[in-house]
Order: sequence, then C-alpha cells, then structure tokens
Amino acid sequence: MKKIVVLTGAGISAESGIQTFRDGDGLWNKFKFEEVATPEAWNRNPATVLEFYNWRRKKVWEAKPNTGHLALVKLEEKYEVKIITQNVDDLHERAGSKNILHLHGEIKKARSTIDSDLIYEHKHWKLNLGDTCEKGSQLRPHIVWFGEPVPLMEPAKKIASAADIFMIIGTSMVVYPAASLVVYVHPDKPKYYIDPKAFMVGGISNLNIIKKTAGKGVPELVEQLLKNWQ
Ligand code: OAD
Repeated sequence: MKKIVVLTGAGISAESGIQTFRDGDGLWNKFKFEEVATPEAWNRNPATVLEFYNWRRKKVWEAKPNTGHLALVKLEEKYEVKIITQNVDDLHERAGSKNILHLHGEIKKARSTIDSDLIYEHKHWKLNLGDTCEKGSQLRPHIVWFGEPVPLMEPAKKIASAADIFMIIGTSMVVYPAASLVVYVHPDKPKYYIDPKAFMVGGISNLNIIKKTAGKGVPELVEQLLKNWQ
C-alpha cells in the first residue's frame, strides 16, 4: 500500500470555526504569545495562561470536523495515511482518521508539572488553578509552548521520510521545526500544498501548489488520488 503523509496546520480547522494564528483575525494578532504560550508566562501568571487555553478548549469542544478533515479519512480506503498535525484540536480524530501525530500537543489533555509522563484526558473544557495530578502538582495544558522542545519531532521525521506522497494543508510554513518536515520527503515523490496562500517552498522539488481552501481543495485532491490509485 502506498503511503500518504499529511502535514496539517490551523487552516484545515478554519472552516470549523477555529481561528488560525497569523491570518488577519488570527490569534497572534490578538494575543501576545509571550503572555499566554511560553513557560515564562506560565511561571509568571498561570491563571492567564489557563484562561487562554480554557477559552480555546471550549471552542474546540463545540467545533465539528469539516469536509477537509472528512476527505482525508476517505483516503484510507486505498492508502496508508499518516497525519502529522500542528493542530492541538481533535478534529482529525473526530472525523475518523486513524493515524495522527500531534506535534504541538493536544488541548483536550492536561499534564502534570512535575512528571511529564502523567497525561490526563479532559472530561470538561475547563482547567483550573488547584487541579492537580495524582502526585499533587498543578496540571498544565498538554501543549508545546514557544521555547520548549518538540518531543515528537524525531518520529515525525521518520514518517515524512517514508512518504510516497506528501500533502501540506493549511499552514503558513513559518514555524520550525514543523515546517522542515517536507525536507525529509524524497525529492522524487510528489508533494501537494493546499492553502489559499500556498507558495513554492525553496529547495523542494515536485511541489504542486493548490491555492484553495481546505474545504474545497482537499476533497478535490483526494478524489483525484483515489481515482489514480495504483
Ligand atoms: P498559521 O496561522 O501560521 O497559518 C494558517 C494558514 O492557514 C495560513 O497559511 C492561511 O493561508 C491558511 N488558511 C486560512 N484559512 C484556510 C482555509 N480555509 N483552508 C486552508 N488554509 C487556510 O497557522 P499554522 O501554520 O498552523 O503553534 O501555525 C503553526 C504553529 O504556529 C501552530 O501550531 C501554533 C502557532 O504558534 C503552537 O501553538 C505551538
């Protein structure tokens, strides 16, 4: 079975009503990431950080997968599909995709601040000061903050390097190391970049630019790949 690897970003969830980060109405145009998404912000003002993620978690709780997420599930009929997502929402899971790696964490999970192996599923959208792990320490969002290492980067590189086809969907490709994953894909393998602002990424061969939204561009490409399947 041919392997399709998909790198997704905030754009695939935009049509589900979840804001991106760097578009006009993006989160980083409204909030300073230094105040809500760094270890220093957490140490200075954990209540503000929790409030920011509680607000975003509630939105994810209420959102539904869109045609972009759903089309990727269809690909599994004929391909081995692995999704590497920068998104912290669970819309790929809820659409039904089976193999998902969350490079930047998962907003519906909380993690102990003294033992990073202690990770808990949220039963409710709210995480409060005073919510503790079984060892008694405060829980934090299970999110990779700016300045923190990306623990799943090594497995992600391995997945990318085994791709027969690589898709990039709804990402500005400015955040590293995530944006470097395409470099690990074999130069001869076809690559597709679906995003209204998609651009030719320097040094990447066989890259097809599809300047469309995920809701439109992904189902179209999926249909084409299912038809041309061999
Ligand atoms: P960005 O906000 O940087 O980029 C969003 C991309 O989605 C842009 O290229 C838009 O053109 C595109 N877009 C908008 N609407 C779309 C639609 N309907 N269909 C398809 N594409 C659309 O978001 P990311 O690239 O995901 O990290 O950002 C990467 C990381 O930066 C995030 O994971 C987050 C952020 O800081 C952390 O929080 C650790």
